[in-house]
Amino acid sequence: MNNPSHKRSSGLRGHIAGQTSISTVGVRGSGLSYRGYDVIDLAHKSTFEEVAYLLLYGKLPNATELRAYLQTLKGMRQLPPELKQALETIPANTHPMDVLRTGCSLLGNLERETHFDQQLEKANRMLAIFPSIINYWYHFSHHQKRIQENSTEATIGGYFLELLHRQKPSVLHRQVMNVSLILYAEHEFNASTFAARVCASTLSDIHSAITAAIGTLRGPLHGGANEAASELISQWKTPEEAETALMEMLERKELIMGFGHAVYTDADPRNVVIQQWAKHLSEAGAAPELYAIAERVDEVMKREKNLFPNVDFYHAPVYQYMNIPRSLFTPLFVCSRVTGWCAHIFEQRSNNRIIRPKAAYVGPSLQKVLPLAERI
Ligand SMILES: CC(C)(COP(=O)(O)OP(=O)(O)OC[C@H]1O[C@@H](n2cnc3c(N)ncnc32)[C@H](O)[C@@H]1OP(=O)(O)O)[C@@H](O)C(=O)NCCC(=O)NCCS
Repeated sequence: MNNPSHKRSSGLRGHIAGQTSISTVGVRGSGLSYRGYDVIDLAHKSTFEEVAYLLLYGKLPNATELRAYLQTLKGMRQLPPELKQALETIPANTHPMDVLRTGCSLLGNLERETHFDQQLEKANRMLAIFPSIINYWYHFSHHQKRIQENSTEATIGGYFLELLHRQKPSVLHRQVMNVSLILYAEHEFNASTFAARVCASTLSDIHSAITAAIGTLRGPLHGGANEAASELISQWKTPEEAETALMEMLERKELIMGFGHAVYTDADPRNVVIQQWAKHLSEAGAAPELYAIAERVDEVMKREKNLFPNVDFYHAPVYQYMNIPRSLFTPLFVCSRVTGWCAHIFEQRSNNRIIRPKAAYVGPSLQKVLPLAERI
C-alpha cells in the first residue's frame, strides 16, 4: 500500500530505460512506428503475418517469404496431448488470461528452449499455438467439446475466429481482426514488454519471459482495459443514459477504462483506425447504439477531462460486434503482442546486461533486533 507521506510514485515516467530499434512511441514526427514503418501505413497495406515477420525477422517479407511463413505458422498450430490434458483440468470460471499464462508455461516444459538459437522457432510456435490454447480450453470448459485445431484459415485472425465460432469468418471480420492484431503487435517499453525484457536479461528462457509478460498484460491498467471498457459501455442502453452515469463517475473521481495514456499526451494514433472499424461494423450490423454510446463517452471524456481514447476503448465495441466473449479480449491482445514481446527478448539477448535499477530508500533507519521476549 502507498504511504501517504511519500511522494506519488513516478512510475518511471519519462526515464529512458534502454535502447530499442523495434518501435517508436510518441516520438515527435514518427508517432508509432514498427522498425521504421508507420503503424497506420502497415494497418492499411499489410497483413498481421507480414507485421509479425517484420518484428521477428527484422524486415518485411517478400511474396515468397510470406507464403512460406504462413505455411510454417499453419504447421505449428497443433496442441501437444499433455497440454490438452492440462487445459481440460482448468475450471470454466478461470480467467482466460490465467489459462494462457499456464498454457505458455506448460509449453515451456514440454518444448523447452534449451539454447537461444531456438528462439525464433519458439516465438513462431507461441504465435501459432496461442489461439489453439485459448479456444481449446474455452470450448472444453464451456461446452464440453474437444475441438480440432485443423482449419484452412491461412491467417491467425481468421484461425482464431473459426476456432471460436466453429464456422468460417466473414471477409469483413477477417479484415477487422487483421487490423486489430497489427495495432496491438508492438508498443516499445510498456509494462508487459519491460517485464519480458527484465526476465530475459537474467538469461532465462523465452517461455518464462512471455509468461511474465502475460501476467503483466492482464491488469486493467494495461491490456485488461479493453475488457473493462466493454463492461463500461455495455451497462448503458442509450447515449443519454451513458452521459448521465459517466458524469456521476467523474464526479466520484473514478478511472474510466480505455482513456488516457502513459506516453501519448494528445491522442493514441491507433485509435483513429480502430474507431473507424467500430463505426463501420456498427453500420454493417446489429446494435448501432453500442457505437453511439461509445462515441458519447468519448465526447464527454474530451469535454470534461480533456482525455482521449486509447487503443483499447474502441476495441471494446469492435470485438463485441464480432461476438467475441469479453473475457477473450485480452487473450486476443496476447495473440498479437507476443510478436513484439519476442522481438524485444531477441533484442535484449543480443546486447544483454541484467536490468537492475536502484530504489530510493524511504523506510525506517537502522535499528537493533530485540530478542523475541522483549518485543511488544
Ligand atoms: C493509462 C494510464 C494508466 C496512464 O496513467 P498515468 O500516466 O499515470 O496518468 P496519470 O494518472 O498521471 O493521469 C493524469 C491525470 O488524469 C487522470 N486520468 C488519467 N486517466 C484517466 C482515466 N482513464 N479516467 C479518469 N481520469 C484519468 C488521472 O486521475 C490524473 O488526474 P490527477 O492529476 O487529478 O490525479 C491511465 O490513463 C489509466 O489508468 N487509464 C485507464 C486504463 C487504461 O485505459 N489503460 C490502457 C492503457 S493503453
